[in-house]
Amino acid sequence: MSGQSSLRTGLKEFFMKKVLIFGSGSTGSRICGEIKDSCEVIGFLDNDESKWGGKCCALPVLGNADSCKSLDFDEVILGSLTALDVMPAQLVAAGVEPSKINRSFVETQVKARVNFLRDYAASVTEEPGVAVAEGGVFQGEFAKEINRAFPKSTLYLFDTFEGFDERDIRTERENGFSSEGVSHLNITSESLVLSKLPHPGKAVIRKGFFPETAAGLEDARFQFVNLDFDLHDPILAGLRFFYPRMIRGGVLLVHDYFNPGYKGVAQAVADYERECSALVKIPIGDHCSICIVKV
Ligand SMILES: C[S@@+](CC[C@H](N)C(=O)[O-])C[C@H]1O[C@@H](n2cnc3c(N)ncnc32)[C@H](O)[C@@H]1O
Repeated sequence: MSGQSSLRTGLKEFFMKKVLIFGSGSTGSRICGEIKDSCEVIGFLDNDESKWGGKCCALPVLGNADSCKSLDFDEVILGSLTALDVMPAQLVAAGVEPSKINRSFVETQVKARVNFLRDYAASVTEEPGVAVAEGGVFQGEFAKEINRAFPKSTLYLFDTFEGFDERDIRTERENGFSSEGVSHLNITSESLVLSKLPHPGKAVIRKGFFPETAAGLEDARFQFVNLDFDLHDPILAGLRFFYPRMIRGGVLLVHDYFNPGYKGVAQAVADYERECSALVKIPIGDHCSICIVKV
C-alpha cells in the first residue's frame, strides 16, 4: 500500500462509526454486508447464549445487551425482526442511551410489509364469506395489522403457540435448510395475540400443528394469507392448503422467501410449483417476502 493510500485508510477508520449489530441471524448478517464499508462493525450481540463466543460474518458474537457495558461503540443497530420489541428495552436497561439505538434497518423492512398489506387491502373490497389468515403468528405483530386492514373478515390464526415442532425440524436438519431447534419462538400465547388485535371478535385461533389444524376448513375461501412458518414443511403444506382456496386476485405472502437463514421456504415454493404450475410471484420490497397472486 502506498503511503498516501494507507493514510486514507487510516483516516477512514478514524472517522468511521463504531457499531454493534444486535442479532447474529440472517437479518443481522444482511445489515453487516450493507454497512461494512461505511462503518466499523465491532461485533454482534445476541440473546441466544449458544451463539456467544462464536462468529457471524467473521466477526465475534460478544454476548447479550449487557456486553455493551464494557464496550466502546457509537451505535447499536437492531438486527433481528423477531425480538424487535424487546431489544431496545434490554439495551436501555444495560445503560445504552436511546439515541445510540438505531432501529432504521429493521423498521424499514417491517414497514415495507405493513405498507404492502395496507395498500393491497385499500385496493380491494372485503367480500362477505371470504376470510383472511396467517400461518405462523408468534406474538401477533403482523396478525394485528391483517386484522386492522380487513376489519370485517374472519381472521384465522394458525400457530402451535409452542414454537417449532420436532416433525418439521427433522426435515430442516436432514436438508440443511435452517439451524433453529425445537420450541424456538415459544415465548407467546393466544391471549397475548388476542390482546393486540383491534377486532379480536373476528379472530379464530387454530392452535396446534399445521396442517392438522386446517381440518374442517376445506370449504373456506381466502383473500389474503400471510405464510410465515419459517420452515419448509409447513410452508409447503400452507401452499397446498391455501393456494387452491384463494379467490382470484387474492394474495398469498410468503415471508422469508429471500432469507438465507431459512432456505426451506424458497424450496417449498419451488416444490409446490413443480406440483401445480408456475406461480405469479412478485417481491414486495422488504428484502424478505414474495407475494403470490392467485390467477
Ligand atoms: C417467525 S414466527 C411468525 C411471526 C409473525 N408472522 C410476525 O410477523 O410477527 C413463526 C411461527 O410459526 C410457528 N410454526 C412453525 N411451524 C409450525 C407448524 N407446523 N404449525 C404451527 N405453527 C408453526 C412458530 O411456532 C412461530 O410462532
